[in-house]
Amino acid sequence: MPTRDQISYFGAGPAPLPTPVIEESAKALVNFEDTGLGLSEISHRSPTANKILADAKSALSILYDFPLEGENAYDVLFMQGGGTGEFSASVQACVGWWVERRRRRAVADLGEGKEDEVIERVRKEIKEELKVDYLVTGSWSLKASQEAARLIGSKYINVATDARKANNGKFGKIPQEKEWQLTDSKKSAMVYWCDNETVDGVEMPSFPESLKGRGEDDGVVVADMSSNFVSRKLNVKDYGIIFGGAQKNLGIAGITVIIVRRSLLALTPKADFLQRLSDVLPSAIPPVVFEFATIAKNNSLYNTLPIFNLYIATLVLQSLVKTFEEKKVSGQEELANRKAELIYDTLDKYADAYHVVPDKSARSRMNICFRIKSRGEGDPGTWDEAREKAFLASAEKKNLMGLKGHRSVGGIRASNYNAVTMPSVQKLVAHLVEFAATG
Ligand SMILES: Cc1ncc(COP(=O)(O)O)c(C=O)c1O
Repeated sequence: MPTRDQISYFGAGPAPLPTPVIEESAKALVNFEDTGLGLSEISHRSPTANKILADAKSALSILYDFPLEGENAYDVLFMQGGGTGEFSASVQACVGWWVERRRRRAVADLGEGKEDEVIERVRKEIKEELKVDYLVTGSWSLKASQEAARLIGSKYINVATDARKANNGKFGKIPQEKEWQLTDSKKSAMVYWCDNETVDGVEMPSFPESLKGRGEDDGVVVADMSSNFVSRKLNVKDYGIIFGGAQKNLGIAGITVIIVRRSLLALTPKADFLQRLSDVLPSAIPPVVFEFATIAKNNSLYNTLPIFNLYIATLVLQSLVKTFEEKKVSGQEELANRKAELIYDTLDKYADAYHVVPDKSARSRMNICFRIKSRGEGDPGTWDEAREKAFLASAEKKNLMGLKGHRSVGGIRASNYNAVTMPSVQKLVAHLVEFAATG
């Protein structure tokens, strides 16, 4: 029976966690800090649970360097529903905030007590102006845009870019910003992208220039960071919402983290106002467990929060703070980059055996997607699925696990999440070299 340290696991999520975190949380599940009770057995409203929540927020704000209090504060929310839940929650929140801004403007222009006229004006503006912008760069942003269309109607969705159009019908390249067809930022309720496309191995290289400096009146900047969370430095103030499911870089499935600009929460409209607009804007009211303002007001404890899952995330965040000290998330970024470079350099070096799927300009540091070529053939269009199977089988014999590509695209995917160690990467690189020569 292999031990944890004998296995190198490159699965795309759920993904490996640092062994000390797993060991600590295993103890906590049985008997948390010698209290005689496990963490999943105690109240989510207990002082213990509150401390875990506070510790998680504090560690995250240190790592990403953003304020939890004061004028430019961000709230950190923990919810359930996964990344997919946030596809719905983010568009509903941003559309609600847009509507509330328009309502306030109408009241300012028309005066108090003119409810019917205010409703009429906002209805007209929704019909004539409202858009939500999506940068569709891979399977997950595509799904998010489809969910938005399902909830509020496709006429409000502007796909500002569809990366497949620039890459022969397949994801793998991010079109240049000057080609994006963004809506006027004052009319747009949000601009959304997936920062790291887990299935397609595509990562936004950096924060888009054209979205810098957006203000309170502009469409909200929303990024899904489920699969590259806490893996590189960013300016939180550039974003309105950052979200991510925990089960890759943060912890285990069951909680989702949301970092949201506090000033936006104050714009949450009343449900009865939105109800009166349901003829032009269906399903814009989120279920209460997905309403950010409600969750923030209740310190993520509106309903039962899985504290054990949160505890794992807290331990992960605290261990990053401790390991990288003043470098904060940049320390993790340097390590992630070094590991990814080792793998990509090897794939590029043995280009007669391997073909990296995404374009060099958008290669993900987290999910490294490649195909194995037929022997002796240089045509990049010919992948050899039998050789890919052989690659996976020989990898597994060496305890290199979880390398199969996503079922929708095939090939090989090596996920290089934060808990994948350098020795594991070195073992994978050795396998790549050996297979290129002999496999
Ligand atoms: C980038 C990204 N977004 C969203 C999701 C969906 O997450 P969940 O399964 O937690 O709903 C995933 C899942 O792998 C993902 O990789």
